[in-house]
Amino acid sequence: MSLERATNYLLRSTRVLVVTGAGISAESGIPTFRGPGGFWEGYRAEELATPEAFAHDPDLVWRWYAMRHEKYAACQPHAGHHTLVKMEAHFDDFLLATQNVDGLHHAAGSRKSVELHGSIHRSRCTSCGAEATFPTSIDPLPTCSLCGGLMRPDIVWFGEGYPPGVLERAFTFAYSADVCLVVGTSAVVWPPAEIALIAQRHGAKLIEVNPNTTALSKEADVHLLGPAGDILPALWDGVLRQS
Ligand code: OAD
Repeated sequence: MSLERATNYLLRSTRVLVVTGAGISAESGIPTFRGPGGFWEGYRAEELATPEAFAHDPDLVWRWYAMRHEKYAACQPHAGHHTLVKMEAHFDDFLLATQNVDGLHHAAGSRKSVELHGSIHRSRCTSCGAEATFPTSIDPLPTCSLCGGLMRPDIVWFGEGYPPGVLERAFTFAYSADVCLVVGTSAVVWPPAEIALIAQRHGAKLIEVNPNTTALSKEADVHLLGPAGDILPALWDGVLRQS
């Protein structure tokens, strides 16, 4: 019944916004942030993902990101990621706004996308801002090939602003989206969660894909309960069958 309703929303849409979080990568083998086995478990976020933490102990922060980078390198996109690529090709207007830094959407082939929280595949100079790929070694800590400054992961940390233009792109799209599909996020981090609510307040139907209830579930027009790797292909099959 819910799947049917979500299918109908998509069938009536030309402008589709998708917001993803760590849950869409769970079936690729990447732990989410919150909950059992999550990245935050055993750590306090403010010890790792803040400019202050990096200033205090850059070695610890780099090691945490190097651990994640190594883990991500072994992971592949799954049917859920690939379904979003098919949606991108199908709809006239499409934007994928992801909170994930793992690059799996890009690896699957998503191009109309914006990485809200940066990318673990890049580093950035703390002095001159020059970008580089993720370092092959963090011992010694990586320095900028242009100015010698200390490099950092090119990721948005707590207490930092978003990269220029990134949020604007997502919010501008949200104002006139027909559907906002929210996949695999606890929706506790703002402004990403707000993007979905803004879309809904401006007329979009809000479809949530998540095996658990979240901060958005009460607001959602449809909550498709289940893992992204099952639900997204099933949803898309339904749309294609009736297109
Ligand atoms: P969370 O770990 O907070 O939430 C993950 C969500 O994924 C939960 O709601 C799970 O129920 C859901 N989930 C788990 N398995 C799933 C599956 N197979 N399919 C679909 N959903 C599944 O991760 P985020 O919401 O992404 O920010 O966290 C948001 C931000 O908090 C992250 O981008 C990160 C973190 O602090 C920064 O690092 C700046």
